[in-house]
Amino acid sequence: MSKPVAIVTGAASGIGLAFTKHLLSRGYRVAMADFNALEGKRQSTELGADTLFIHTDVASYADQAALFKAAFEWGGRRLDALCANAGIADSQSIYEVSSPVEKDGMVAPLNLQTIEVDLNAPIQGVWLFKHYARQNVVPGGKVIITSSAAGLYPMSTNPLYTAAKHGLVGFTRACGEDSPFAKENITVNCICPAFVPTNLCPPHMLAPFPKEHITPMSTVTKSLDTFLDNGSMTGQSVELSLDQLYFRKMVDYPNASQRWLGEESKKFWEDAYS
Ligand SMILES: NC(=O)c1ccc[n+]([C@@H]2O[C@H](COP(=O)([O-])OP(=O)(O)OC[C@H]3O[C@@H](n4cnc5c(N)ncnc54)[C@H](O)[C@@H]3O)[C@@H](O)[C@H]2O)c1
Repeated sequence: MSKPVAIVTGAASGIGLAFTKHLLSRGYRVAMADFNALEGKRQSTELGADTLFIHTDVASYADQAALFKAAFEWGGRRLDALCANAGIADSQSIYEVSSPVEKDGMVAPLNLQTIEVDLNAPIQGVWLFKHYARQNVVPGGKVIITSSAAGLYPMSTNPLYTAAKHGLVGFTRACGEDSPFAKENITVNCICPAFVPTNLCPPHMLAPFPKEHITPMSTVTKSLDTFLDNGSMTGQSVELSLDQLYFRKMVDYPNASQRWLGEESKKFWEDAYS
């Protein structure tokens, strides 16, 4: 039987590279997608023939669509897992002291590339994954999205990042056990890591950062194992801190009416949107 196949975005560095190596150790073939062609190709060459580097800007739908098509063909027309992981910090500070003004005197828009890369791209990734996972011999597959602790708590230095990562937690929950994906054997879960030393962190921050607050990569790969090994687990957001995994629930309902809307009113919405 052919090996299972995964796509990992942001695979040239940090968590994506660790995911790639871990998936290889579990017998997967990995299509490594990254914006950084030099490093991505170098890593893929080092890791060997069970990897394929595909130069991809996840913010471009055309790039992601080409990535999925190429990975599916390379993998022998199967796609078992997606790690939608590529991410960047705030692309522009919303707090800038002077707003850039264009020739017509209008204030130039804020650069929202962070939303494109960190939120829109994983959503398009799930859209594409569904198309290919349905064609597997046993239809279905697993999506693991990299959100962040900033998907659970505000990070006032990076409000765009916070918005995107909160969005991923909501998206994951919506695509969970109550969604049609669950009936199709497509699971969607996300990880919310605390501080993991990678190239995402400004280099001058790493040396003075207190070691007792660093989450090791082994916790990140443990969370990947949890989602790969628990076939039906879906819609979960897991916070990763130090060596622990904390499954985080949505906020509680404040009253019986909201509980009814959240839990009992499903038929109204299904009728409305069908
Ligand atoms: N490091 C942490 O402490 C931490 C904590 C929580 C969440 N995360 C999340 O983990 C994910 C991985 O980040 P990391 O810490 O490994 O950082 P990293 O910078 O080491 O790796 C990110 C990779 O994504 C790639 N990338 C960036 N934009 C891209 C694009 N448009 N298209 C394709 N590839 C692109 C980069 O080239 C890089 O190789 C991100 O989503 C990040 O938000 C990181």
